Amino acid sequence: MLEKFYDVLREEIDRYLDGIIPEYAGNLSLITEPMRYSLLSPGKRFRGILNLLSAESMGGKKEDFLPLAAAIEMVHSFSLVHDDLPAIDNDDFRRGLPTTHIVYGEDVAILAGDALLVEGFRHIANNLKFPPEIKLKIISDLAESIGWEGMVGGQSLDVRISKEESCKEFIQEMYELKTAKLFAFSLSSPAIVLRSEKLNELKQIGLELGVAFQITDDILDESSSAKGKGGKEKVNMLCISGIEEARKRTFEAYKKARDDLQKIEGDWSRIIELIDLMEKRSK
Ligand code: IPE
Ligand code: IPE
Ligand code: MG
Ligand code: MG
Repeated sequence: MLEKFYDVLREEIDRYLDGIIPEYAGNLSLITEPMRYSLLSPGKRFRGILNLLSAESMGGKKEDFLPLAAAIEMVHSFSLVHDDLPAIDNDDFRRGLPTTHIVYGEDVAILAGDALLVEGFRHIANNLKFPPEIKLKIISDLAESIGWEGMVGGQSLDVRISKEESCKEFIQEMYELKTAKLFAFSLSSPAIVLRSEKLNELKQIGLELGVAFQITDDILDESSSAKGKGGKEKVNMLCISGIEEARKRTFEAYKKARDDLQKIEGDWSRIIELIDLMEKRSK
């Protein structure tokens, strides 16, 4: 991860996130502290950066979109805190650190996740300086991408569908929902603000990208212990055809995402570089 533009944007998002939830909140520090712990731990910020770069590619100003990028990262952070819980994946490590429930207890981790989710939406309502009808559409699209038709729906398939079933029939749908819909929102939501006609095309490209990202996650889980996770045995894309086939599939999907972006009006060169980073990532 040596690309300068990536580091600059990641640091910008990190700095911005640091200013959202107070470090000291009296008695309520007991909830703000775990919220900050999970939100400010060293995430890659791909979703937030994708959002900022998509805005810039279509002629928007990055500064105007920082509150939206931050909200996306808050919502993503909530999903990770809950995903790691003993009742879901039962993981002890996240981003190289003990998971939120390991440090603060399961009860507080559940609540910190809830609060991050809600805070993400409040941040859009209060801090995004776009007309109300635009913000409403953004809020509605974000809710769709993470609710029962999105991430939560995908997580439900993940926890309840048996290994045999999920491998054959459900895995594509599961990945689109649990991971790719938030990528699709991250890439496409600037089109709402900038009134681009390409909203649906961008959603489609985001979906493709998100599925590839999740398969890369499977490959990394399989081929390294870098994540240092224990956790429950999970169904993943490798059950279909093994690691080489999965690599080939992600190679094609990332390439298609780059090719499709180039067909859309605007300068997408930075996002194309970001996709290269996603493809080559080692964590
Ligand atoms: C982890 O996402 C969860 C998946 C959907 C694979 P990231 O790999 O983007 O996690 P962070 O935010 O960088 O920690
Ligand atoms: C995470 O999927 C997806 C969400 C949090 C919605 P995984 O469970 O496969 O991701 P990791 O491996 O824990 O990051
Ligand atoms: Mg999971
Ligand atoms: Mg998990």
